[in-house]
Amino acid sequence: MTTTLNDLFEDDLDLPDPVAQQRYARLVGLDHVKARLAREAELIMQPDLLREWSLRAHGTVLPAVERLADRPPLIIFAGDVGTGKTTLAETFADAIARRHGIDVRVKRLSLRARGTGAVGEMTRLIGTAFDVVLDEARAVGSARPTILVIDEADALAQSREASQMHHEDRAGVNALIRGISQLATEAPGALVIMCTNRIGALDPAIRRRAAAEFDFARPDEAQRAALLQSLFEGITLSSEDLTLLVDLTGPNGRGYGHTYSDLVDRVLAASCMAAYPEHPITAELIAEQVRSCPPTPPFTTRS
Ligand SMILES: Nc1ncnc2c1ncn2[C@@H]1O[C@H](COP(=O)(O)OP(=O)(O)O)[C@@H](O)[C@H]1O
Ligand SMILES: [Mg+2]
Repeated sequence: MTTTLNDLFEDDLDLPDPVAQQRYARLVGLDHVKARLAREAELIMQPDLLREWSLRAHGTVLPAVERLADRPPLIIFAGDVGTGKTTLAETFADAIARRHGIDVRVKRLSLRARGTGAVGEMTRLIGTAFDVVLDEARAVGSARPTILVIDEADALAQSREASQMHHEDRAGVNALIRGISQLATEAPGALVIMCTNRIGALDPAIRRRAAAEFDFARPDEAQRAALLQSLFEGITLSSEDLTLLVDLTGPNGRGYGHTYSDLVDRVLAASCMAAYPEHPITAELIAEQVRSCPPTPPFTTRS
């Protein structure tokens, strides 16, 4: 079975989009990341903004600005599972699209793009994927920037230093680097976001090239409190209730607490299911569900 062009990408996401806006707004505890990301991404996606500022502020486009514009258009999201990397990568540009009154297309490289392992296949697939993105980006220019999301990027850009690295994977990493450089020179406004749960497994040559790297972690106490309040809005939780739930979803001697995803996707559903159809959701009932939905263990590095 060979991978065809149609299998290379998931469906495109065109922004602005109300669903993306809501998914973005529901991400809790990431305000700091959201703010810094918006600045970094905006300058890559709208390179003229920096030039215009330089002209305003200095009467000329400073060499520093040209250099900044030459950075590879690559941003890395690294961190634990279930902490919002994929969701943020797919939705953050909604805010940028709205602010600047532009359209943004999010293209998501499919995990199938890894191919079947046949010699030369992964390199060819990555090359083809970047060709598609380049063609589209060239056609529309920075008026409609393209974002290429490469999720689980460590699967594609595994460290060339990993001992059992196959020659084929190394060629794949080189194809990725080539694709990103080509985007930089030929498609101003295009941006690549790579997400990984295993930053250590990502090739150092790729990491070195990134314009920015963002770290994602499990929610701390304040973030769990904010998330629980937002998830169970409409249910009266006393401050004692909230303290108990925040505590129950913390590390409790395990070394790791619940992920955002554990709370959003599992505890919430379990609580509704346990209450429906006869009972209301109460703090006690939520606590019971937390106890029976232990946190997902961190991704352990296999190398
Ligand atoms: N910071 C967050 N705030 C609220 N919900 C979150 C957050 N991070 C993740 N989620 C939810 O958890 C689920 C998994 O998130 P995802 O973006 O796939 O995480 P990752 O890619 O880091 O594994 C989604 O339903 C998402 O909405
Ligand atoms: Mg993910």
